[in-house]
Amino acid sequence: MKYRHAHHAGNFADVHKHVTLLALLSALQRKDKGFLYLETHAGRGVYDLADSAEAGAGVARLEGAPCTAPELRHYLERLAQARRECGSSRLYPGSPWLAARALRAQDRAVFVEALPEEARALRRALSSAREARVRVETGDGFERLRAALPPPERRALTLIDPPYEETQRDFERVRAGIAETVRRFPTGVVAVWYPVKDARDTERWLAAVARQTERAALVAELWLYPRDSRVALNGSGMLIVNPPYQLDVQMRAWLAELCERLGGAAAGGSAVRPLAPARPA
Ligand SMILES: C[S@@+](CC[C@H](N)C(=O)[O-])C[C@H]1O[C@@H](n2cnc3c(N)ncnc32)[C@H](O)[C@@H]1O
Repeated sequence: MKYRHAHHAGNFADVHKHVTLLALLSALQRKDKGFLYLETHAGRGVYDLADSAEAGAGVARLEGAPCTAPELRHYLERLAQARRECGSSRLYPGSPWLAARALRAQDRAVFVEALPEEARALRRALSSAREARVRVETGDGFERLRAALPPPERRALTLIDPPYEETQRDFERVRAGIAETVRRFPTGVVAVWYPVKDARDTERWLAAVARQTERAALVAELWLYPRDSRVALNGSGMLIVNPPYQLDVQMRAWLAELCERLGGAAAGGSAVRPLAPARPA
């Protein structure tokens, strides 16, 4: 496996994913009851933006001028907090760092990472988070889904964020992973990041997911280039199964602002739409 997230850290897709993740965590925390946060492809937790080739067209475009949407402001506050705590203005917090800091005493997290050195770095990055609430496992995130679900808390948010290095295989494993997650725990929230490279391929994959997912689901996409152009990554997608109430409304507002701030106003765009209607229980 050649993929190293450090090269991509803080790019526009990371920003899209991390703003969405923080909004999902806040939505779950509207209820007092604790939940499991499960992340199948965790990475190393914190990144040095000096190693990133893509942050200039991502997080860097968001800094320096205030945002209007509360979700974007919340994300920028967490970014500033991470930099303060770690004493580096070049640091970029990954999803495990953001999630671990957001957990309450009644919540817990399991992070899975395949590469042993990335998992070791993640343990170091999370060492100040309380042991009992946060566990880092080295292994295959798709396999670990089975062990972790259903959670005893009966509430869960699962983030599936593979590298798509072997694009077709990862898309297929994600589709099967969503099916497995929903089968094991039908009411859990599942958030999946996916790359938008060719819009027709994306639509075919989403149609296959929709055919198998008998739960309400939302698709939120942000693209900076026309969706059929041949650049490496045209857009970033988030698929959310069992989305929290009103998430779609919030997303429409913050995604449009994010798209503009990231320079996507001319050739890009954003869209939030249902994947599949909820069927009666
Ligand atoms: C896109 S990065 C994760 C970024 C992280 N979620 C974040 O937003 O900060 C994908 C990670 O998955 C790891 N990985 C690849 N295949 C995996 C697998 N089958 N199971 C678990 N981790 C895997 C890679 O080593 C890499 O660190």
